[in-house]
Amino acid sequence: MVADIGVSGTAGHPDVHDTEMIRPRRLLNPARLVTVPIMRAAFASRFDDANPLAALTVGERPEPTHPDDDWVTVRIRASSLNHHDLWSLRGVGLREDQLPMILGCDAAGVDPDGNEVVVYPVVPTPGDPRGVSILSEHFPGTLAEQVAVPRSNLLPLPAGLAATDAACLPTAWLTAWRMLTTKGRVDDADAVLVQGAGGGVATAAVALAAAMGKRVYATSRDAAKRERIAQLGATAVEPGSRLPERVDVVIETVGAATFDHSLKSAAPMARIVVSGATAGHEPKVNLRRVFAMQLEILGTSMGTPDELTALLAFCAERGVRPVVDSVIPFSRVTDAFARLHSGDVFGKVVLDHTT
Ligand SMILES: NC(=O)c1ccc[n+]([C@@H]2O[C@H](COP(=O)([O-])OP(=O)(O)OC[C@H]3O[C@@H](n4cnc5c(N)ncnc54)[C@H](OP(=O)(O)O)[C@@H]3O)[C@@H](O)[C@H]2O)c1
Repeated sequence: MVADIGVSGTAGHPDVHDTEMIRPRRLLNPARLVTVPIMRAAFASRFDDANPLAALTVGERPEPTHPDDDWVTVRIRASSLNHHDLWSLRGVGLREDQLPMILGCDAAGVDPDGNEVVVYPVVPTPGDPRGVSILSEHFPGTLAEQVAVPRSNLLPLPAGLAATDAACLPTAWLTAWRMLTTKGRVDDADAVLVQGAGGGVATAAVALAAAMGKRVYATSRDAAKRERIAQLGATAVEPGSRLPERVDVVIETVGAATFDHSLKSAAPMARIVVSGATAGHEPKVNLRRVFAMQLEILGTSMGTPDELTALLAFCAERGVRPVVDSVIPFSRVTDAFARLHSGDVFGKVVLDHTT
């Protein structure tokens, strides 16, 4: 039996295409008359800005190929979702001619030599103006049975860290780590404000800053999330509330909805570190406050392999573990996307590829 790479039938979430019925493990490539090994994957098959879930397909894709000799294939044991995956389904950062694109930035798994590894998701990408890209932007992502990356992108899984925990770290937690350390220079800070407390980056920033002994304030629109973020060691407040003190570092991923509050909450010489703009990327900025208070507004994206190594060591040695909203079997990846899209999450939505 021969199958097309693509969509056939529906299952799972009503908005999501699924190719559960297609079972052969090899596909015929009609152009070259050869069979291609296949694997199960979750991918963007089109874009839908209004309803990104409708652009998600779960089905079969060719197993990864290696663009270069130093690339290897990792068998994935766990992955996690990021807001980035929803942006991709909306068409942000991807072009039509790149479709279908396997989604997912984060993974922990097993390398070809049988070692347990964590995948660093930033790969060299000639032709991209940044010189690099995150998995699922140019090269197939981690929401699959396997992913290919340069061998140098593999870091050893620290002893005592579960694959489902490690799979939370390479994107949201790495971003939060760099925001606090390299960019925010948190060693010199007493107090930190984290906006939008329920998000993956935000929960990471709260947990890490609290573990570093800082006074942490966190905003959330949701009373239940405020209660949960307080359990992580933060003083939880409603968005826009006046804080009992000005802070030295602000962690911003929300954007337009919170940026004015970030400026107003900043102490003289504070660092406002921005890695996302979930609620809009064109806030009004009071420049008088920026220069009068000598504020630094710093953009950042992801982190370096050394920073991921440091983060893994920090988590392993200090017993810090990612804040996990839910662990969902990969066979129910559509439910995982629906959960992230609902906005109801607290921490990371993790996918277990072993069940
Ligand atoms: N540059 C990078 O390297 C990098 C890496 C990871 C993520 N990001 C970006 O960072 C952002 C957050 O990512 P994530 O995965 O942590 O996302 P997420 O888990 O979906 O979190 C988003 C959070 O933003 C808050 N929020 C959303 N809309 C809001 C609004 N209108 N007003 C106030 N708060 C609002 C919510 O907090 P409450 O419900 O608690 O209020 C929500 O929990 C995304 O834009 C993502 O693209 C960037």
